[in-house]
Amino acid sequence: MTFSRRDFLYGGAALTLLTAGMYGLSKRFESAPDEEAILDAWRGRFIYPLRLPGQYGLFSTVQAKTLSRLTARPVSLALRGGRHSSALWLYQTEVNGNAVYNPILLARPGDRLSFSFENQLPQPTIVHWHGFTNDTRNDGSGMTLAEPGKSYQYDWIVRNDAGLNWYHPHPHQNAGEHTWRGLSGLFLVEDDASDYVARELKLTFGVTDIPLVIQDRTIERNGSMEYSDNSKRKFHGMSGTDILVNLTRYPTVDLPRGWVRFRILNGSNARLYRLAFKQKNNTLPFMLLGADSGLLSTPIEMKDIFLAPAQRLDVAVDLRQADIGDVWLKTLQFDPMHNEMGGMSEMPGMNSMGAVHTHGARGEGADEPILRINVKPYDGPSGRLPTQITGAKAVSESATVRDFFLDHDGDGHWRINGKSFHSIGLASAGGGTHEIQSVASKKTPAITNEKQLFDQTHRAFQIKRNTRETWVIRNDSASMPHPMHLHGFSFTVLSRKDSPKQLIPLVVDSQGRTAHDLARLDTVLVWPGETVRIAVDFSHPFPNEQSYMFHCHNLEHEDNGMMLGFVVT
Ligand code: C2O
Ligand code: CU
Ligand code: CU
Repeated sequence: MTFSRRDFLYGGAALTLLTAGMYGLSKRFESAPDEEAILDAWRGRFIYPLRLPGQYGLFSTVQAKTLSRLTARPVSLALRGGRHSSALWLYQTEVNGNAVYNPILLARPGDRLSFSFENQLPQPTIVHWHGFTNDTRNDGSGMTLAEPGKSYQYDWIVRNDAGLNWYHPHPHQNAGEHTWRGLSGLFLVEDDASDYVARELKLTFGVTDIPLVIQDRTIERNGSMEYSDNSKRKFHGMSGTDILVNLTRYPTVDLPRGWVRFRILNGSNARLYRLAFKQKNNTLPFMLLGADSGLLSTPIEMKDIFLAPAQRLDVAVDLRQADIGDVWLKTLQFDPMHNEMGGMSEMPGMNSMGAVHTHGARGEGADEPILRINVKPYDGPSGRLPTQITGAKAVSESATVRDFFLDHDGDGHWRINGKSFHSIGLASAGGGTHEIQSVASKKTPAITNEKQLFDQTHRAFQIKRNTRETWVIRNDSASMPHPMHLHGFSFTVLSRKDSPKQLIPLVVDSQGRTAHDLARLDTVLVWPGETVRIAVDFSHPFPNEQSYMFHCHNLEHEDNGMMLGFVVT
């Protein structure tokens, strides 16, 4: 045990009591006998300073309301931890004459963004503002694209409360490739409630309050990052051999032995993580402050948490629980449940690909280090964890129910309610490769009429503005986990049913929800065989008819048609 009694009492016991009622006193530490040796072996590799928010280069902070131009362009840049420059596609803007890439945009509710997006890529693209309340014109969902050499004007107002949102490409069929090549950025909204949290914890953004973008990529020795066109890989989703944080491979960061906060985005195309903080054989509990679209009203203590593509977390860790030295942010072992090929993972000792899952192997579901946190002595003022925060309000259940069923057609296409998103008729088609996607299926009769196909997937249903609905999302059991994302509106998870065994230890209430589910979300993970009910509030201030997307945020699934458009009238 590495904690002194005093530290334990200060940093943990009181907080444990606060949340004990929600999920019982959990075992605080687990140990794996070989853990320490494995981490020691990784230590010498994790030597590249984590990129932090700065003034120039990648991950610079920019006040969103000052933005006048954002350009998507190819940039050749050496990724930390890579040997050679990589040919990337990045978002670029200028601050005081300096070029900044994939800027971290900062805003407060009410800020107005008015800027020109310039596409200097060789392909059509568009920027989607993930997590924001927007009209169709500014949502950037891919119905209109900016051609190469052309621009697209955005003009919108930040209507969200505090939360970590992000922006990324959304050209249907190419969102995965554009994101993989490097395009994506954080968009942090702060308000009075989040200011209060930072003040209480005595945090400084970029010093003790650190944004982390977790993305897996494969960087070849010569720096290249290829995007595979292999259809099998695309069926599962694109994944890489290395886990980068803030585009740094083998990252490390120095942090003081006090409260620190991480705002974490899973910016991966397809990979899930099960995050935990470890020191030697000890697991350091952390406090969940919020997720996707808002703060919790009471922080919740957790030991590990699943994070699916596009989801964000706001967590605080009291590093006084640790000794001076290395604390690791890791992804723990889990069953990735790729059951789409016939459910091999139900067999004990086997993972979804039918291979024996061994500790130390790499890839989704493997136990791997992500970030080495070098804990330094600290004698600054000690912060306090706020117990009551003005969090996002829950959306209450509605009697209006809409059902969704997630599966694939047995022929390489993922579907929602038997439909694969059809791309004909998109404004400003760029690549010219708009093939008709197969909707010939097990459960729905084949549709050959173009117009019908378009309407069925672009205007799949209509919702009245300012109403609430309960959405029931059921995932086939011969499926894989799908992080389902809703544009334009956030929601409250009401319940989970038939969840996989590995989720059970994370369940905190009789509705089968995890602590993560108690935050306002815009992306919810639905495991194979599971049924998740969410309550959505379709209030917004935009006139006339607006259209939005509901899709899987495994970007290859989205590109391959696991998406439906709908209208709010
Ligand atoms: Cu993060 Cu439709 O996207
Ligand atoms: Cu979105
Ligand atoms: Cu999916």
